[in-house]
Amino acid sequence: INIQNIRNFSIIAHIDHGKSTLADRLIEKTGSLDKREMKEQVLDSLEVERRHGITVKAQSVRMEYAFNGCLYELNMIDTPGHADFSYEVSKSLSACEGVLLVVDATQGVEAQTVANLYLALENDLEIIPVINKIDLPTADVEKTKSEIENLGLDVSNVILISAKNDIGTQEVLEAIIKYIPSPKVNDEGNLKALIIDSWYDNYKGVVCLIRVFEGEINLNDRIMIFSNKKEYNIENLSVLTPKPKDIEKLHAGEVGILISNIKNIEDVLVGDTVTLADNPAKQALKGFKKIKPFVYAGIYPTDTEKYDDLKEGLEKLKLNDSSLEYEPEKSDALGFGFRCGFLGMLHMNITKERLEEEFGLDIVVTTPSVLYKVEKTDDSILEISNPKDLPEPQFIKAIFEPYVSIDCLTPAEYIGSVLNLLQEKRGYQKNLSYLSSNRCLITYAAPLSEIIINFYDTLKSITKGYASFNYEFEGYKKSDLVKMIIMINNEPIDSFSQIIHKDKAYYYARDVLAKLKEFVPRQLFEIKLQAKVSGKIIAKEEIKALRKDVLAKCYGGDITRKRKLLEKQKEGKKKLKQLGKVAISKEAFMKLLEPA
Ligand code: GTP
Repeated sequence: INIQNIRNFSIIAHIDHGKSTLADRLIEKTGSLDKREMKEQVLDSLEVERRHGITVKAQSVRMEYAFNGCLYELNMIDTPGHADFSYEVSKSLSACEGVLLVVDATQGVEAQTVANLYLALENDLEIIPVINKIDLPTADVEKTKSEIENLGLDVSNVILISAKNDIGTQEVLEAIIKYIPSPKVNDEGNLKALIIDSWYDNYKGVVCLIRVFEGEINLNDRIMIFSNKKEYNIENLSVLTPKPKDIEKLHAGEVGILISNIKNIEDVLVGDTVTLADNPAKQALKGFKKIKPFVYAGIYPTDTEKYDDLKEGLEKLKLNDSSLEYEPEKSDALGFGFRCGFLGMLHMNITKERLEEEFGLDIVVTTPSVLYKVEKTDDSILEISNPKDLPEPQFIKAIFEPYVSIDCLTPAEYIGSVLNLLQEKRGYQKNLSYLSSNRCLITYAAPLSEIIINFYDTLKSITKGYASFNYEFEGYKKSDLVKMIIMINNEPIDSFSQIIHKDKAYYYARDVLAKLKEFVPRQLFEIKLQAKVSGKIIAKEEIKALRKDVLAKCYGGDITRKRKLLEKQKEGKKKLKQLGKVAISKEAFMKLLEPA
């Protein structure tokens, strides 16, 4: 097909604004699948994605559409739908020349609309605004239009649709052809193809979705991955229509799927460049980086016997998730488990759910932490995520913590509460603007550590569910951080240690001790609870001793009854965890680890 007749585009939208429904309609309209084959929302392939209603792995569909007597090839490239995956979104977008920006007419512009728009603008893409769900009685097209306009977009060619009822979708196809430019390419050059996504398939091994920018790629070519110089023979090239269809070659400007004998997805990371082994390109495509986890937490099997099963589960997930990191760790109370690194809270929750549901594991996830950078007195830099790895104060020159930039969209009536919350989270305001008379876009910077614990739920509750937010890593900043140690009868309990801002240590300490007092059962001896910062006790509590006589209830001399009670007590003891010399049930322990 002539390059002039190719269009590469993506659909970007806030969650639930109708991206998948519109994608389905476009596939239907271009006759790529007949009704019988049309499974609802063909693009979301992973089971967990389906349930979360969010897309994690990008896919792409090649459609054909005749317009004004010409046949066009439309490549629709799916993007992951969440802030945690913004690097992947950006790479998917860089494979496109334009996007459909879908906004729900009943909701208006939301945080992810803004975040995705920024990524599209950074990639210099043509943006076609599409207002969806106009069939609903609560749709407010004019207001939605003016909100889009206030983001700086031209709304003169905005398309009004109902993806569900197939209204306006024809116009969308025509707009893609009319407004999105054909790919600008150099088909003379040495092969340069972008890895848009890679995933592990049980039958095919590692699969890469690529976009060719220069040159062409042919079946049986020997390729080289630019960053690691690894070489492979191409075994299969295909496109999804969305049924898989084998092809012989991909020209510059085209998108397709490549299979070689690649064993490990870490060798073909998103953003890397594929070139020819014998005739390599001189330079890679811009913007490749290996993304690193931002959020860390311990994952432990509830049943210590299941450690190997958990290990196997993590290994399997890692096959398909290059940004998941894990290493063995031992906790004083939870036994053997893993310290895991995630891109963000959503990534963490998806991983947890998959371990539970796909691998049938019962697990505990500890309070998440971020990656701190510690400048030591010998000028070396240490990266730590676990408070127990923090050096003693005398060896620390400074501690740096990750900051994120937060875009929060809220109805104007809640601005005060939202600003208060952001302030409490140690944030500072960067911008505040109105998208319409009652919707406000607040931009704040705040430490990531404050955002990963209880931010989302609090924001939702103070705005009755109306606010949406998105965050993006901004950089490291020096902070007044200290390590707080919790001690039970003078023994420090690692699982409760916390790196925390100096000004918040006291309040956090009071909280933890109060919880401990509530959940640690009284024992036969008195229990002293203390919180310590830089060698000083900043808070304390005590749990009074209890004299527990299990036989007290047995008035008579019935020996079998007595024995039964003693047996029961023994069993009870088995289930208890030792916190120092204090025994505590696993359930209580999990309660204690829940974020305050
Ligand atoms: P994510 O995959 O979570 O990003 O969501 P999405 O943007 O793909 O949204 P999806 O297409 O799953 O639609 C969300 C909900 O809105 C579904 O229940 C759809 O049936 C519904 N929906 C989509 N388009 C329309 C529309 O035009 N009108 C009405 N009434 N409902 C729609």
